[in-house]
Amino acid sequence: MPSEPLISLRDVHLAFGDNRVLKGINLDVHKGQAVSIIGPSGSGKSTILRCITGLLRPQSGSIRVGGTEVSTLHTEAELISLRKRVGFVFQQFNLFPHLSVLENLVIAPRKVMRRERAEAERQALELLAKVRMEHKAHAYPGQLSGGQQQRVAIARALAMRPELILFDEVTSALDPETVGEVLTVIRELTEEGMTCVLVTHEMRFAEDISDVVYFTENGLIAEHGSAEQIFQHPHNDRTREFLRHALHDRGQRVGKPAPDVFSNLSRFSISV
Ligand SMILES: Nc1ncnc2c1ncn2[C@@H]1O[C@H](COP(=O)(O)OP(=O)(O)O)[C@@H](O)[C@H]1O
Ligand SMILES: [Mg+2]
Repeated sequence: MPSEPLISLRDVHLAFGDNRVLKGINLDVHKGQAVSIIGPSGSGKSTILRCITGLLRPQSGSIRVGGTEVSTLHTEAELISLRKRVGFVFQQFNLFPHLSVLENLVIAPRKVMRRERAEAERQALELLAKVRMEHKAHAYPGQLSGGQQQRVAIARALAMRPELILFDEVTSALDPETVGEVLTVIRELTEEGMTCVLVTHEMRFAEDISDVVYFTENGLIAEHGSAEQIFQHPHNDRTREFLRHALHDRGQRVGKPAPDVFSNLSRFSISV
């Protein structure tokens, strides 16, 4: 791809005390791409995402997001300006429990972007329709299922009109029957050309939607390539072994049948 990457990590090293967590990460994401990061627990995936948003600062290496060198940002204002451009959705939805769904989407655009209330509400309703949650605009987060809350959390990230969105295991805490509706929303975003970086355990989904897949192991990128290459013809023994476990043994690990999102297409329909 000829264009400059939207996100570019070069030789990024990060340690927590003696624990060397990132040992020279190189990673590129181009505008409009869906890029997945897969790998064993503790291999540094979340740390990579947190570095991209400036939440963590590596000891060395370069991280560029749309022409901004993240390590040069120091003031709170500079970091807030980066975080406006980079949406982040976590495993835990972190919606404000005392605010309605609509207010959860209105608050940051009003406070951070200084938008007019009417404009912020109009956009919020539009985004809720996009994630098929407009009928719950006046409900409170506690009244929603996990999948519904996560769809609201995605709409809330979109309300800042970010240039890209990072998803960190956003379906890991959900009941299996609500995973599909959240994945559907993410799939639609990638189809619309939103730049997305996903850390996920949903291997079939990652294979299906990703332009590029990175496999992390022990603080390094062991292998990266097209989804087809990584999932069908992995070069690295560790990738192969990881995928074998992730694709076949997952049900044992979680103590229930593996929630294969493609085994039952009805799970892609949105429950309301
Ligand atoms: N805030 C932190 N302080 C100390 N150690 C951390 C912190 N966050 C992550 N780690 C350590 O960094 C390593 C990688 O963690 P993480 O990036 O969360 O891995 P993954 O997302 O791939 O499971 C782990 O050994 C974890 O214990
Ligand atoms: Mg993680």
